[in-house]
Amino acid sequence: MMENLDNIQERIAYLSKELEVHNHNYYVLNSPTISDREFDMLMQELQQLEEQFPQYAQPNSPTQRVGSDINHAFEQVAHTYPMLSLGNTYSMEEVEAFYTRVKQGLGNAPFDIVGELKFDGTSISLTYRDGQLVRAVTRGDGTKGDNVTRNTRTIRSIPLVLKGNDYPSFFEIRGEVLMPWSTFEKLNEEREAQGDALFANPRNAAAGTLKLQNPAMVARRGLDAYLYYMLGENLPTDNHYQNLQKAKEWGFKVSDTMRVLHNLDEIKAFIDYWDVERRNLPVATDGIVLKVASIAQQEELGYTAKSPRWAIAYKFQAEEAVTRLNSVSYQVGRTGTITPVANLDPVQLSGTVVRRASLHNEDIIRSLNLHIGDMVHVEKGGEIIPKITGVDADCRERDSQPVEFIRNCPECGTPLVREEGEAAWYCPNVNHCPPQIKGRIEHFIARKAMDIDSLGPETITQFYERGMVSNAADLYTLSVERVASLKMRGQKWAQNIIDSIERSRQVPYARVLFALGIRYVGETVAKRLAAAFPSMEQLRDATLDELMAVPDIGESIANSVVEYMNDIDNLLLIERLAQYGLQMKAEEKEAVAVSHDVLQGASVVISGTFQHHSRDEYKALIEQYGGRNVASVSGATQYLLAGANMGPAKLEKATRLGIKIISEDEFLQMIGQA
Ligand code: IVH
Repeated sequence: MMENLDNIQERIAYLSKELEVHNHNYYVLNSPTISDREFDMLMQELQQLEEQFPQYAQPNSPTQRVGSDINHAFEQVAHTYPMLSLGNTYSMEEVEAFYTRVKQGLGNAPFDIVGELKFDGTSISLTYRDGQLVRAVTRGDGTKGDNVTRNTRTIRSIPLVLKGNDYPSFFEIRGEVLMPWSTFEKLNEEREAQGDALFANPRNAAAGTLKLQNPAMVARRGLDAYLYYMLGENLPTDNHYQNLQKAKEWGFKVSDTMRVLHNLDEIKAFIDYWDVERRNLPVATDGIVLKVASIAQQEELGYTAKSPRWAIAYKFQAEEAVTRLNSVSYQVGRTGTITPVANLDPVQLSGTVVRRASLHNEDIIRSLNLHIGDMVHVEKGGEIIPKITGVDADCRERDSQPVEFIRNCPECGTPLVREEGEAAWYCPNVNHCPPQIKGRIEHFIARKAMDIDSLGPETITQFYERGMVSNAADLYTLSVERVASLKMRGQKWAQNIIDSIERSRQVPYARVLFALGIRYVGETVAKRLAAAFPSMEQLRDATLDELMAVPDIGESIANSVVEYMNDIDNLLLIERLAQYGLQMKAEEKEAVAVSHDVLQGASVVISGTFQHHSRDEYKALIEQYGGRNVASVSGATQYLLAGANMGPAKLEKATRLGIKIISEDEFLQMIGQA
């Protein structure tokens, strides 16, 4: 049948427009006017037409919301206007000081302040030309960022085509990409079930998602976005608040919580209100942003090198709750590290129920003088697992027992060891302690290692408990019959497992090296080592000096490799893996990815305690990325890697010297391991 092409083009335009309206009703206004089914029907029709008549498919079509499966590396693009950050304050006095500075800066002229929530996600800059989204860029280093337009098109609350006709022909609008709490919790549950690393908080989850290389995956992650700053030459009004109200009319999601505030009392009331009410919001916030409303006055006040003089962020205190410590349990990690965990009476804390808190290590338990039955203060910082920050010693019962750190492994009974200068205790029974054995096998089969994806932690536990595997090499002795004899899911399931074990024999040498789970030998270090020592034999025979001669390999890593290769059990394991046909030689040159020089030449001071790695691991990471770990803060220090509970003197000195203070998460983000 011959179709009239003009009609088809019209129908595509009509469907696109309809779908964008319904999308806005659903994702921005939260009030759909058609059923999901009706929406899907319209979408299907549009998809079919675009497939049949690709000449009419538009880059901003609503069909792009589902993303494509094609991977694209991100191109770096320069920001039209630099993306600055905001000055932070934590006290009302500093807010008052800001208010006075603004007043003086404006020569006592009257002014209004716009109060907004400080959304805790990842910032984004959107550019619209003639009402069409043309570019979306991450903050990056403030002057240039990653072009994430394809991923951003999948965020349904971001309009691809604007409504109305009174928008400037070219403008930029900035905002925060967020992952709502509920989506974040669901995502982490899924990741836990799959044995993937959890996201520490919705901010990391949002940032990580936006940088996924596969837009279709981004589309499934359910990101949201609030817009809070319009920039350009022909803005609709001279008032920040009015401009954002206009933006709302054009289809942007602008928070209804923003208010025009006329004096300090109103500012204080706004802060006090949200300090409590933010707990009931569906998304994470970490403070309040105050901005001078008039754009002309903003320009009059101008900028410092780092931030505008017309705005400030007031940061909320971390949230806290008080609850009872019932007991302390001890977890044994893959490398034998013992982590103490507090078991608490369940308590509500920033929207979730908390039952456990990390106690990090023995020193922290000591410094808290923790007793069983104590009422403890729990705080949720930026991490998944909350931490105990204090004890109400006054309500302690007289006969309560102090928490004594265990001296023997809770799993295998071996006496624990603690090395000098380390905070953690280890179980040295590396080859026979069950969680260490299982942990190593789980690491071995992980996606980034041998990628034996049909196996999960539960199956490994079953194999182990039935004596079918007690190390990675044993996996290669399994047969379909033996696996099927577990009677878990039958023959087909067993065949799948054997097939993926079979396939893993082709996994390249660098990943085999990573899969061994040598302490400090992450993916990147493994690639480096594989490039310098292109066979397992060469690596086995490498001396400490030879290892340290490799770029980015410092003392900690080199020591760890030598130690591993001096252990007879490890050598036997490698020998067996080689016999089973695993790749023990580099194929030509295995690619060395990731930029290693992010910390090139920088001296970094480590202070406080950390959630994701030990201090030694951070030391190794700093070396690995070209930096130097130094002991004390001086004018020559570039970064202070600040953990929890760090000394106030160090912090004060670093602040005074203008040294860049980075959190654990920021550091991991810098080196691309967030
Ligand atoms: S205004 C020049 N408003 O906080 C002013 N920022 O440290 C530009 N943020 O990078 C920012 N909520 O990612 C502004 N209502 C809000 C915000 C907000 C969150 C983030 C943003 C920015 C950082 C500032």
